[in-house]
Amino acid sequence: MDKRVIEKLVSIVGKEWVVTDPRAIERYLYDEAPEPIRPQPMRDVVVVKPGSTEEVAGVLKLANEEKIPVFPRGGGTGLVGGAVPTAPGIVLSLERMDRVVIHREDMVAEAEAGVTLAKLTEEAEKAGLFFPPHPGDEGAFVGGLIATNAGGARAVRTGVMRNYVLGLEVVLPTGVVARIGGKTIKNNLLTNVMHLFVGCEGLLGVITKAFLRLYPKPRASATMVVPFDDRLSAIRAAYDIMMSGTIPMLLEYVELSAIERSEKHLGLQWPTHEGFAHLMISFAEHSEDAMYLALETVNSIAEKYTKHEPVLATRRDEQSEILRIRSEIYTALKKDMVDILDVTLPLSKIYEFMERVDALEEEYKTWIPAYGHVGDGNLHLHIMKNEGWSAERYNELREKVYSIAVELGGSITGEHGIGAARSKYLEKYADRGHLELLKLLKKSLDPNNILNPGRVPV
Ligand code: LAC
Ligand code: ZN
Repeated sequence: MDKRVIEKLVSIVGKEWVVTDPRAIERYLYDEAPEPIRPQPMRDVVVVKPGSTEEVAGVLKLANEEKIPVFPRGGGTGLVGGAVPTAPGIVLSLERMDRVVIHREDMVAEAEAGVTLAKLTEEAEKAGLFFPPHPGDEGAFVGGLIATNAGGARAVRTGVMRNYVLGLEVVLPTGVVARIGGKTIKNNLLTNVMHLFVGCEGLLGVITKAFLRLYPKPRASATMVVPFDDRLSAIRAAYDIMMSGTIPMLLEYVELSAIERSEKHLGLQWPTHEGFAHLMISFAEHSEDAMYLALETVNSIAEKYTKHEPVLATRRDEQSEILRIRSEIYTALKKDMVDILDVTLPLSKIYEFMERVDALEEEYKTWIPAYGHVGDGNLHLHIMKNEGWSAERYNELREKVYSIAVELGGSITGEHGIGAARSKYLEKYADRGHLELLKLLKKSLDPNNILNPGRVPV
């Protein structure tokens, strides 16, 4: 990069926070996407680490004037190359902006973009409060969680990231700082525009701070694992649970074959090995009575579909072990995998979708591990490596899965997003008017196309 620009960057954030050494840059070039779909990173980049919103604004203003691409970066835990720099430019790492204040009386966390999920969860707990979402990797940053509208397993009851954002501080590509909303639960001062930045993957602005809603810490929690002999029974039971009005915090569908890989990878034991498919159901309630009532409802629904006994974990460490085995299926399978999909379906179509994926498994003679957030219709399917397969064959299989999901009224992504790895599917699977709107927004907010260029058609 131009020496003159580097000097200007140094004058904005300080010498120590402008990284040009290729060895130090290496760890800013990737995210957690499986290697076969990972976009090729551009090594001709400089990593800039601002310490304040004003410094972020300074960097963006300069980049806009000089028309330099900027790739905002959080914890780098994404699965679709969203944080991978794909053009010469600036990697804008928010890691130094990691202050968090818990406003206990208001039940709100005020967190800078670089606060990790682990830190946010811990600080909320110290104050006797609770941040329900748990989108996988605890190294994720608040800024990235919001920019990707992350979901995860604990979204069934209180929602995905979008549902927690009460206020945002965001820096527009031209350097303008917008502060929208704040500590109040309601605010109608035309605050809807705030949500343009939630789930927009850093295309329209850089999130520097957020006000996030917290909940009282639940007094009683339990995780139940219920084995079923076949997929249909498990999915029907999940559907009935959702319709019963007893909404769990987490409702996951898993198959033993994938669970066993994760157990082996972690050296941990899943609580039961009966049946073929399991539901994992967690409740976090404000009294033991409420919790046992909810568990009873679930139990009486499950009984209609299985002869196997459910296993109940009430100790905190047991419950987190179960969640850990579930959460690390992805990591356990990663080395044998080409891609992880995260399609969503309307609740009534989950079973039909899975049956059609099974047929693909037969047709392609491959294993397609299937599991996921069945309570909100969001499923993970892995495309595994197969000997002798061409790139076209993998693409064909992926596209078949996508087409089935869309045909059934679903979407190709419910949590991982588009990033740099999936831009090619936008034209095909997004509505034309939707793309036109995105284009118009991108043009007006980012006239020089500096933020994450090349991801959406402009
Ligand atoms: C999960 C990640 C891969 O649900 O989204 O495990
Ligand atoms: Zn997931």
